[in-house]
Amino acid sequence: MTQSATAAAHPNLALVKYWGYSEPSLNLPANSSISITLSGATTITSVTFDSTLDDDLFTLNDSPGTAVASRRVSAHLDRARQLAGSVDRAHVSSTTDFPTAVGMASSAAAFAALSLAATRALRLDLSPRELSILARKGSGSACRSVFGGYVEWSKGSHDSNSFARPLYPPQHWDLRVVTVAFGGRPKPVSSEEGHRAAVRSPLYTARLRELDGTLDIVREALHRRDFAGLGIAVEREALSLHAIAMTSPLVEYPWVSGIIYMEPETIRLIRAVQDWRAQGAPVYFTLDAGPAVHLLCEPAYLHTLLEEIRALFGLQSHQVWISSPGRGAWEVEGPLST
Ligand code: PMV
Repeated sequence: MTQSATAAAHPNLALVKYWGYSEPSLNLPANSSISITLSGATTITSVTFDSTLDDDLFTLNDSPGTAVASRRVSAHLDRARQLAGSVDRAHVSSTTDFPTAVGMASSAAAFAALSLAATRALRLDLSPRELSILARKGSGSACRSVFGGYVEWSKGSHDSNSFARPLYPPQHWDLRVVTVAFGGRPKPVSSEEGHRAAVRSPLYTARLRELDGTLDIVREALHRRDFAGLGIAVEREALSLHAIAMTSPLVEYPWVSGIIYMEPETIRLIRAVQDWRAQGAPVYFTLDAGPAVHLLCEPAYLHTLLEEIRALFGLQSHQVWISSPGRGAWEVEGPLST
């Protein structure tokens, strides 16, 4: 007997970043975070539980998933199976229209879509909050992709009170996010390793002390649709994460003095944004744990911004994704049984 469902989710971009755990085994974060769900990229995941399978099978864009990714998917299916009291193995097939491991929060979309597809296939009808809690255990930031628009993840103190909730729907503020990714090698250190190492940075407690103030500024700027207020807070917040990463010793790789997620193109674009702004351009940047740069602007400036990016990089390999505030994870095809 088989039971299947298909779900989709967008990645999200943190305006205030989650960096560091209070409890790694449950992905409980050391701080609350705020994000915008990105309409311009999508992961679609089908899950088929099949009582005749001996093992879970995971394919990504029609190729077998890596051993590490397959283990993460299986561990997440275990959580859904436990909720449903099922022992059936599953075939999980995911397709994405954006690259993984370049700083586009691909795991957020992946685990939001997987959580919804797996629980629907198992006929579980989780509330959005329960789904957010489940998605968080796959990848912390995935708890925010359950919701659309502007989203806050309250850090909580245990499994049942660490979940995301919508702050404002997508139409509250029609911002644009232009994600610029550069070809080349995937990021050298996973975000999981970065989260674990963060507490060893001597700057970490200073970052956490700042964060409640940053959260207030960002919430208030979103409320008032204050673009300049939002932008400068978001840039400082991204640089704060990278300051932590760069000063976090990695016990697993003692020869690495600190984590550098940026590539030369990352710095080039950051410098350009600062120059453009000095001339009055309304654009701000943010970064995740990878070399991609996310640029924030309002719709009226989008065309000029795209031209500036094209002029800066010319024929040099780069990819651009344009997002508006997107919707939360959704079911594409309801539960089917054979
Ligand atoms: O969900 P994870 O473990 O991939 O961590 C995401 C970390 C950042 O993208 C850098 C920040 C965030 O809040 O999304």
